[in-house]
Amino acid sequence: MSDENAQRILVIDDEYIVRKSLCDSLEDLGYDVLDADDGKSGLEIALKEQPDLILTDLRMPSIGGIEFLKQAKLLSIEAPIVVVSGAGLMTDVIEALRLGAFDYLSKPIRDPSLLEATISRALQQVRLKRENENYQLHLEDLVEQRTAALHITNRELEWHKNNLEGIVIRRTEELENLITELRDTHSQLIESAKMASLGRLVAGVSHELNTPLGICLTFISSLGDKIKNFEKDFYLGQLSKKDFGKFLESAQESSDIVISNLTQASDLVKNFKMVSVDVSSEKEREFNLIDYVKKILLSLKSELYGARVEFIFDDSVDFTITSYPGYFSQIFTNLIFNSLIHGFSADTSNLIKIEILINQSVVNIVYQDNGQGMSAEVKQQMYEPFFTTSRKRGGSGLGMNIIYNLVVGNLSGSIVCESEQHKGTQFRIKFPKEALNKSHTPLGAQRSL
Ligand SMILES: Nc1ncnc2c1ncn2[C@@H]1O[C@H](COP(=O)(O)OP(=O)(O)OP(=O)(O)O)[C@@H](O)[C@H]1O
Ligand SMILES: [Mg+2]
Repeated sequence: MSDENAQRILVIDDEYIVRKSLCDSLEDLGYDVLDADDGKSGLEIALKEQPDLILTDLRMPSIGGIEFLKQAKLLSIEAPIVVVSGAGLMTDVIEALRLGAFDYLSKPIRDPSLLEATISRALQQVRLKRENENYQLHLEDLVEQRTAALHITNRELEWHKNNLEGIVIRRTEELENLITELRDTHSQLIESAKMASLGRLVAGVSHELNTPLGICLTFISSLGDKIKNFEKDFYLGQLSKKDFGKFLESAQESSDIVISNLTQASDLVKNFKMVSVDVSSEKEREFNLIDYVKKILLSLKSELYGARVEFIFDDSVDFTITSYPGYFSQIFTNLIFNSLIHGFSADTSNLIKIEILINQSVVNIVYQDNGQGMSAEVKQQMYEPFFTTSRKRGGSGLGMNIIYNLVVGNLSGSIVCESEQHKGTQFRIKFPKEALNKSHTPLGAQRSL
């Protein structure tokens, strides 16, 4: 009971003997005891010494127990007050309890254990009350601490938010700049890829022009020689009728051959002019898709040497479409060069099949080669820009990306590829007959850099 030793009890009683015996009993129980002989001095001591418990008599001169209780309440004396009533009336006891007395004991107290139990209960209540007050106080502190911590966290959050906004704005700007740069690079690459396919066309056409022009040159030079001999024989008077006839025949033949070859060369140049203008200008116009593909094939005739091309279409159908012919030059040139470079080898019988059909308002193109085909891995990456399996041979890896972007982005169509290793490659391209996206840009495409 070491903590109870520190607890103080105030005993108020006007009868000295009673007060003394009560004080002695309490001291014996180990309490620190204060005493007063009436309510008035009891109040003074209670206010000054703040006892833990007060025992008071009811009937006393000046301020009695009832008045003491009233005053104690007014003065906010918190110690529990136990009334020790002598022969007082029960009504006094009831009034005392009503005024907030903790308990009452009858005087004289014959059973000390009753006193001990009552005091112990009262002090227990004091302890509980203090603990509760401490807890409340602690709780308030805790709430204050947590509130302060919350304020700090809020400020930190606010700071992070502002900081984050700054970071997001900066990163967005950086990303926007990067995207603009990439777009510019992409357009430049598209331009250079277009020029590359034009270059291939130029190489093909010049090779193709060489043959008829060479023939013309041979025949014209030989005709020149023949004219010189003819002239010499004529002036020497050695020209027979037979020689004259032979000369005319030979001149006629040369003229026919030269005309035919020049016509062929002129057609080639006309085709090439049209295709190359389409490749570089991207103007929308009405044209016949079949005739146009034929022109492309003719322009690539020398490249296609050694490969058989089957071109399948329905003669009775009108294939006039309104679109961008340049797209088709690029699509077919890239597809054909891919078959030639990646699919075919010199010792196989190489075949390209192109089938075009118009189904209501949809154009379907099936392009197929019987070449090497692709592994699943290559097929999966084929449309990615810069993906190539022939970097060493100068492949840029942009051909299929350009095709994809033209078909999906510019023609609002779709492209599906079927390919397996050693089993050839097939592309199925579909797009609406009328160009949908008239105000297109080549960057309207789906797969970009
Ligand atoms: N018909 C095909 N047969 C086999 N492989 C093909 C065929 N078409 C495309 N490929 C594969 O797809 C890859 C990507 O083709 P893409 O046309 O994009 O690039 P590239 O032909 O390598 O280079 P570039 O066309 O830019 O000169 C090729 O490297 C090749 O491996
Ligand atoms: Mg290619």
